[in-house]
Amino acid sequence: MITITNASVAYGSHLVLRDITLQIKPGEFVLVTGQTGSGKSTFLKLLYMGMDPVKGSVSVGGYHSASITTRQKALLRRSLGIVFQDHRLFDDRSVYDNVAFALEVTGARHRDIQRKVLHALGDVGLSHQRHRKPSELSGGEQQRVVIARALVNSPVFLLADEPTGNLDPATSREILQLLAAINMGGMGVVMATHNADQAGAMRGRRMVIEEGVLRELPAC
Ligand SMILES: Nc1ncnc2c1ncn2[C@@H]1O[C@H](COP(=O)(O)OP(=O)(O)O)[C@@H](O)[C@H]1O
Ligand SMILES: [Mg+2]
Repeated sequence: MITITNASVAYGSHLVLRDITLQIKPGEFVLVTGQTGSGKSTFLKLLYMGMDPVKGSVSVGGYHSASITTRQKALLRRSLGIVFQDHRLFDDRSVYDNVAFALEVTGARHRDIQRKVLHALGDVGLSHQRHRKPSELSGGEQQRVVIARALVNSPVFLLADEPTGNLDPATSREILQLLAAINMGGMGVVMATHNADQAGAMRGRRMVIEEGVLRELPAC
């Protein structure tokens, strides 16, 4: 469960988000739209507690913004699947190793890592490409690897920041369909996009950020 209560977020004196109050339940699909610079990435940062609110509070997975420690922030981020806007895959490693990396840092057992990585790659339809290097894949396939990496820890929520940012319209649709399928499997998804057209094609809750205010639109 994600609970945001009267939260405001600022960079120095620049107030980016004002007085957000919102609950997101496990399993929900939430689409956050808004123009470039409106505060979508900042909103996601608030959710994974990469930023403290200057006012109000955020509570995610039992952690509270007012009391969370640095160590707990690392644990929280491990319990969320995060697809960053400027994701980086390691090109000196295979697709498999790029996904496994997220688990290796947690000290998981080799056999568990193997099972989870193959499962995550299967979920994104890339099992057959697991021995390749990311640079040998198409842009859409690379984004699938990034999503597999975010899924591999079985997070309650997947946070995706402009997951179709650099993709052509057809490949974007495939990635959106993949996120919808992941959500159908029970995982909550919070996705930010500047492309309001995509919002029309998705089922779920829709929000828009305008002039620092997050507003919920009628669901579709
Ligand atoms: N690290 C930062 N320091 C200062 N200002 C920032 C920083 N990151 C973002 N901003 C500003 O906050 C606003 C919202 O940015 P952002 O959340 O990245 O928007 P979006 O993701 O919707 O494009 C913009 O005006 C941006 O310039
Ligand atoms: Mg952004």
